Amino acid sequence: MRILITGGAGFIGSHVAEHALARGHEVLVLDDLSTGRRENVPAAAEFVQLDMRRGDDVRAVFERFLPDAVTHQAAQASVAISMREPVRDADINVLGGLSVLEACRATGTKRFVFASTGGAIYGEVQDGTRADELTARAPLSPYGAAKLAIEGYLPTYQRHFGVTPTVLRYANVYGPRQDPHGEAGVVAIFAERALRSAPMQINAMRRQGDDGCIRDYVYVRDVVRANVAALEGTLGEAVLNVGSGVATTTGELARAICAAAGATSALVPSEVRAGDLERSVLDPSRFEQAIGAVTPLAEGLAETLHWFRARGR
Ligand SMILES: NC(=O)c1ccc[n+]([C@@H]2O[C@H](COP(=O)([O-])OP(=O)(O)OC[C@H]3O[C@@H](n4cnc5c(N)ncnc54)[C@H](O)[C@@H]3O)[C@@H](O)[C@H]2O)c1
Repeated sequence: MRILITGGAGFIGSHVAEHALARGHEVLVLDDLSTGRRENVPAAAEFVQLDMRRGDDVRAVFERFLPDAVTHQAAQASVAISMREPVRDADINVLGGLSVLEACRATGTKRFVFASTGGAIYGEVQDGTRADELTARAPLSPYGAAKLAIEGYLPTYQRHFGVTPTVLRYANVYGPRQDPHGEAGVVAIFAERALRSAPMQINAMRRQGDDGCIRDYVYVRDVVRANVAALEGTLGEAVLNVGSGVATTTGELARAICAAAGATSALVPSEVRAGDLERSVLDPSRFEQAIGAVTPLAEGLAETLHWFRARGR
């Protein structure tokens, strides 16, 4: 198959590219390198550096490559940035996403996989519960609202333009190659600090000094499995949470990473960060039925630390 990956120079997209190539597919990566890196793109993939908001140029790439399937990973991926700059977030995530959908429409691309967010689309997930795919979508950040907007366009593109969508709602994804210097990606930030036994900041859930927000951490390999299954048509038209179902506080995460790395980092209490939900945990039943068991946190953290250690930074 010919697979086009927007955002394929980023953390998740580059893993999808690698795996798709390993399965014998032809891959084109479209990315403007705003947060991605050229060296993340596997050598066997074709690379086009382009801002996806440039609709005519995106369409020209599609017309030349004629993808069988697209996975749309490119985005402004930080909730915190979306809180500060909602217009910029919407420009990239809504208009940029539409530009990619329009290219699908223009070239008769049949399959569109969308990197949505399970972590931000359901809003607060009450204590003792997990959000499943039918839980009301109630985002509390511009980032989540923009992802919801793109989800909202998909039925139109399906019914009128023949683009079959698979929506993958990721929890908090972690793994090798995640940027430890950004504002998102707490596992990468902590892993990098653990290797220097540097302090780790615990943003409060409600009050400075508590154990931090509750999140669902999912290993990038599981996200890749979901993407490849969707691209190859195994999932069909579907909405799928891609999470572990396990609730972990930021403090628990920091202590697990320190223990796995043998680090003596101090945990420094900090204030609530604007836009952060208190609790977000997903029900992974559909994922497990369709794709199989989710990687346990300890295993994923060990592999991630191994990668950061080998990278030497
Ligand atoms: N990492 C997570 O925990 C998580 C959780 C839920 C959803 N997601 C979604 O998964 C996708 C991948 O996230 P990631 O963590 O790999 O982020 P990332 O920042 O590493 O990757 C995003 C990629 O998109 C590219 N990009 C940004 N704007 C672009 C534009 N205008 N034109 C072309 N390329 C552009 C960037 O250069 C980058 O390579 C995103 O859509 C993100 O919203 C991520």
